[in-house]
Amino acid sequence: MEILAFNTVFWNIIKTLLILFLFSILYDWVQMFLWKRKYKIKGPFPVPVFGNLLTYIMAPGADHQRKRIEKYGDVFGGPSASVKVLNVANIELLKKIMIKDHVEFQNRFVFPGAFDPPPADKTLLTMEDEVWKRVRSIITPSFSAGKLKQTSRVDLLQLMLNAELQDDENESKITKRLSAEELTGQMFIVIVAGYETTASLLQYVAYVLATNPDVQDKLIAEIDKCISEDVSELKYDVIQDMPYLDQVINETLRIFLY
Ligand code: HEM
Repeated sequence: MEILAFNTVFWNIIKTLLILFLFSILYDWVQMFLWKRKYKIKGPFPVPVFGNLLTYIMAPGADHQRKRIEKYGDVFGGPSASVKVLNVANIELLKKIMIKDHVEFQNRFVFPGAFDPPPADKTLLTMEDEVWKRVRSIITPSFSAGKLKQTSRVDLLQLMLNAELQDDENESKITKRLSAEELTGQMFIVIVAGYETTASLLQYVAYVLATNPDVQDKLIAEIDKCISEDVSELKYDVIQDMPYLDQVINETLRIFLY
């Protein structure tokens, strides 16, 4: 008798939780439709739980994105899982978002838990608002053209360490210093954000050159013109005299690394 009562209570709890779960999914789904309707946002039909995420996963890349722009216009979107996402392909609007009104858009979305534990959560990619601004203003001088010219001799990470130590006589030294955790976080992100991205780009450039021999020949001619036989003489400045190399890299980034 007691076992029977326990079973009934147990199944009632399971049923209630299931109903609550389904209700929360339905609630999220309706909210997304209301958000799209309120702001007249066009875009692929969002399915429950995933929103438009599966659309982007199953049809990735620039060609599919171009087709979506043709279909829905240069500003479209919808939910990716529970996150509201807008795709912007309007150059004037992008200038506003990324330059003029950048302050309003400086925080980026990061998947919860993606950068745990510390110091991985203390990087420029995850920091927000004033904290991001402060750390960014300390780090940026390490990447100035002048500093980058020295990187063959001075390690980039050492440049960051110097950024921490600078201005310690200055009255605003607190705001111009990085905490030990922040410093470790930035070093971590230089390795993580800089390694895979650069490796992927180089692979795509190799592919582009292999499938476009005319581009490859033109690039080789430019490199031969600018670089002497002795590659140990290679300096950062030389890259400034290679506009075609710049174009090849930018075009490869545009096509593949979206
Ligand atoms: C071809 C190579 C690279 C590509 C395609 C790339 C791409 C990107 C993109 C798209 C963002 C912006 C992400 C967003 O706004 O959500 C970003 C930010 C960032 N990248 Fe890279 N990256 C590359 C190389 C590097 C390298 C070599 C480093 C380090 C030396 C680096 C460090 C960072 C940092 C620190 C940020 C955050 C900047 C901030 O919030 O102020 N990246 N990168």
